[in-house]
Amino acid sequence: MNDCNKIPTNSPLDKLLKGGIESDAVTNIYGEAGSGKTNIALLCAISVINGNKKVVFIDTEGGLSFERLNQLANGNGSHYLKDILLFEPKTWQEQCKRVKKLNDLVEQENVGLIIIDSMVSLYRLELTNDNFHQINRDLSKQYSTLSNICRSKNIPVLVTNQVYSIAGKIELTSKTIGRYWAKTLIRLEKLEKPGHRVATIVKHRSLPEEKHIEFVIVENGLKEVGKFSIF
Ligand SMILES: Nc1ncnc2c1ncn2[C@@H]1O[C@H](COP(=O)(O)OP(=O)(O)OP(=O)(O)O)[C@@H](O)[C@H]1O
Ligand SMILES: [Mg+2]
Repeated sequence: MNDCNKIPTNSPLDKLLKGGIESDAVTNIYGEAGSGKTNIALLCAISVINGNKKVVFIDTEGGLSFERLNQLANGNGSHYLKDILLFEPKTWQEQCKRVKKLNDLVEQENVGLIIIDSMVSLYRLELTNDNFHQINRDLSKQYSTLSNICRSKNIPVLVTNQVYSIAGKIELTSKTIGRYWAKTLIRLEKLEKPGHRVATIVKHRSLPEEKHIEFVIVENGLKEVGKFSIF
C-alpha cells in the first residue's frame, strides 16, 4: 500500500474526486467523441508541469492540439509543450513498444504523469478474429506495466477510452480489461442541453459510485455548472 497523493486536474473533476486523480493508480476516463477526455488530459498535464514535473503524453489519435493547449494555458502553450514528452505511435505494435519503454523513461526523466489518449484506438485497428487473444494479451501487458509504474514510483497514469455505440464481443473484452486494471473509472456523457456534460464516478477505491458533476467546456478550461449557474 502506497502513501497516495492526489494530483489536481485543474477541472471540476477535483471536486468530484476530492482533490484529483490518485498518484498510485491508473485512472480511466471514458466517453463518446467530444465529451472532454482530451481537455481533461491537457488540464492535468498543465497542473503537473506547474508542479515542475514532466508529462509523458502518448497520443494515439492526433488528439493533442497545440492551439487547444495554448488556450488552456492562457497563451503560455510553448512553456508547457517543452515539458511534454510527446509520443505518437501509429500502430498497435509501436504503442506496445512505447509502453514497454516507459520503465526506462521514468528512471531518466522527472516524470509526474503518464497520459495515454486513447488506449484502444490502435488496438481496434489491429484486431482480427485470428489475433484476438494475442492483442488482448498485449493490452493486459500494457496495463500491467502502467500499473506497476504507478504503484512502484507513485506516478499517476491517466488513460482515456472512447466508447462506441455498437459494442461487440471484442469491444466488451477491451472494456473488461480496462475496467479491471483501472482503480478509478470516470464516465463522461454529453447532456441534451447544448454544451453540457456530466462526469460520473463508475469505480473508485474511496468514493461512492454514481457521484457526479455537471460541467461545460469553455475557452480556458472546464467549468462546473451549479444550480444557479449562468451556463
Ligand atoms: N475554446 C473552446 N471553447 C469551448 N469549447 C471548446 C473549445 N475548444 C474545444 N472545445 C470543445 O471541446 C470538445 C472536444 O473535447 P475533447 O477534445 O476533450 O473531446 P474528446 O472526448 O477527447 O473527444 P475524442 O474522443 O473525439 O478525442 C468539443 O465539443 C469542442 O467544441
Ligand atoms: Mg480526444
